[in-house]
Amino acid sequence: MKHALAAAAAVIAVAAGFILWIAADMAPRVEFVPYAEPVAVPEQSYLRAVYSPLHYRPAIGTATDAQCLACHREVLEDRVRAASPSGLKSESLRAWYQETPTYAGEQDTFHRRHLVAPLAKRLMSLQCNTCHQGHDPREEAQGAAADSVQQDDTGFALRKQVNPETTCLKCHGQFPWQVMGLPGPWVEHKAAFGNNCLTCHAAIRTQRHEVTYLNGTAIEQAGKEGADACYGCHGGRSWYRISYPYARTPWPEMPAGVPEWARGRPTQSEARFLKRAEQGTRP
Ligand code: HEC
Ligand code: HEC
Ligand code: HEC
Ligand code: HEC
Ligand code: HEC
Repeated sequence: MKHALAAAAAVIAVAAGFILWIAADMAPRVEFVPYAEPVAVPEQSYLRAVYSPLHYRPAIGTATDAQCLACHREVLEDRVRAASPSGLKSESLRAWYQETPTYAGEQDTFHRRHLVAPLAKRLMSLQCNTCHQGHDPREEAQGAAADSVQQDDTGFALRKQVNPETTCLKCHGQFPWQVMGLPGPWVEHKAAFGNNCLTCHAAIRTQRHEVTYLNGTAIEQAGKEGADACYGCHGGRSWYRISYPYARTPWPEMPAGVPEWARGRPTQSEARFLKRAEQGTRP
């Protein structure tokens, strides 16, 4: 009898223990938070910013970098990770573009490499609107709606905010050795020309880089030191299989007659980049 009572007490104690244990688990763990209206998201101003006239023509054509950067600081402030999520340190890795002899410093973002990195500052003066010619946040295609940009507008490319053909290709196309009368690619024959483009280009196509987004004088200076800076923009950093069809600006002692490959080429740079336009002597 005594044993039976003890056993029953033990069963009751264990059961009670379980009930308490479960009840404790069911009890709310956090303090009760009374309902409150969520903080109002400034939807209105976000949309206003998205549809800022600065994203559209004509305002984007005259926008200053400072105007864009007032909202897009991240473009110049964001930096690449020091290490990948799996732990590889960026300083121990080399990307293809870091192999060029003119590359300076650590890995950096696309925008910084074109706007504020040492080489960019020396040779170029790109602005936001050199590349960005406006985009429609609703329709990322030309001609998609009556009020969107025209189908044949080459400033735009489908689902891209920048048209690569009219920007990137100028500095990231192939080296057109065929039109230069060279026997083959530059890397194979550069030694024969003292690794210097000016061996020929001191007298050929000398009217070059007279555009607002390049520092023409600094480029010629860099060209005197060797071909690497020149080649960097004319084949050395190419990912296209084509070259940019550059304007063929007349130069002193230019031979008469236009070679076959240059038929139909413009004879001056794109109007919006002409330095003369900046100085106000053109309409
Ligand atoms: C008033 C603030 C403001 C100004 C000024 C402004 N932007 Fe924007 N921009 C925005 C906002 C907001 C978005 C939408 C961002 C998002 O939804 O991630 C945007 C989107 C963009 C995008 C597309 C980003 C994407 O991922 O879809 C580009 C490119 C861009 N802006 C470039 C520019 C350029 C170039 C200028 C100067 C001519 C400029 N913006 C001026 C606020 C601004
Ligand atoms: C060398 C050409 C070039 C220049 C100069 C340039 N951008 Fe861009 N930008 C691009 C390209 C290309 C993209 C990616 C577009 C896409 O995804 O379709 C981009 C993307 C962006 C985006 C989208 C978000 C992001 O970071 O990817 C914003 C915002 C932007 N640029 C703003 C600017 C501003 C502001 C400036 C001037 C300070 C500027 N860009 C200068 C080419 C350029
Ligand atoms: C006016 C000439 C010019 C134009 C236009 C240009 N680039 Fe570049 N690009 C350069 C130069 C110069 C470098 C090397 C920068 C350096 O080594 O510091 C470079 C480097 C790069 C790199 C590798 C560097 C890095 O760290 O990201 C990429 C990728 C690149 N460009 C993409 C583009 C794209 C995409 C466009 C078009 C939206 C473009 N570039 C337009 C001149 C140009
Ligand atoms: C053997 C002489 C020679 C050398 C060396 C040479 N070029 Fe040329 N280059 C030419 C000739 C010739 C043309 C075409 C001239 C014409 O328009 O009739 C030309 C044209 C060009 C063009 C314009 C191509 C076009 O499609 O309009 C570029 C850009 C160019 N050269 C860059 C360079 C660079 C950069 C180097 C050095 C890496 C270089 N060249 C080395 C002779 C040379
Ligand atoms: C930062 C990039 C960059 C560098 C460095 C560079 N170029 Fe160019 N080059 C360009 C661009 C962009 C154009 C097209 C400019 C235009 O639209 O007028 C161009 C155009 C040319 C043309 C055609 C000019 C014409 O209007 O007939 C020649 C030739 C040329 N470059 C040779 C050279 C030589 C030689 C060097 C070195 C001394 C050199 N480039 C360095 C970007 C560069």
